[in-house]
Amino acid sequence: MTGVNPEAPTTATAPQELRARGVARILISETELQQEIRAIAAELDAEYGTDQPLMVGVLTGAVAFMADLMKAMTIPVQLDFMAISSYGAATKSSGVVRILKDLNEDIEGRRLIVVEDIVDSGLTLQYLLEMLKARNPADIRVVALLKKDKPDAIEVQADRVGFHIPDEFVIGYGLDYAGQYRNLPYVAVLDPSVYTNS
Ligand code: PRP
Repeated sequence: MTGVNPEAPTTATAPQELRARGVARILISETELQQEIRAIAAELDAEYGTDQPLMVGVLTGAVAFMADLMKAMTIPVQLDFMAISSYGAATKSSGVVRILKDLNEDIEGRRLIVVEDIVDSGLTLQYLLEMLKARNPADIRVVALLKKDKPDAIEVQADRVGFHIPDEFVIGYGLDYAGQYRNLPYVAVLDPSVYTNS
């Protein structure tokens, strides 16, 4: 049995404060995120109906968005995941990316919803879409929670973007800095002191 002691002092904000160390400012609040995700989910419900789309999540950053999005949808969906990595910052701009984890499902003839947390340079999505299209799905819709306003980004298919954001280092809601901050419930700008002092 799980008991709750009504007399116990509340420490509800303490873990949140710990997780939030390094946050310069909150860019998109939890409420704003969830409101937009409900809107996207309703659009996807209407678009796919009984077609049972396969939601393809791009690990690791898309996990928070994917989890909330699928729960906000009311139609039946299936899930699969891919992990993609560049060979390092120096080669990322040259377009060298590799698959760390491939899909489990055969996607031929399937309707795909690619779920991304952020489109930055556009390179990851460009590579992913080329690879998925070669496997002959019925169609592909890309849903990205965030897209950076970046004039030099690759023009890439992003059918539905939740929020257009400035070109700053963002963390939270799946997005990390050095593996941290992914479990913040909001999207925030990282305090530059975190990476200039390390
Ligand atoms: C991030 C993000 C996107 C990609 C976008 O993934 O999740 O997949 O970068 O950047 P791009 O448009 O410049 O290619 P990252 O490689 O940092 O891995 P992660 O999801 O595990 O954090």
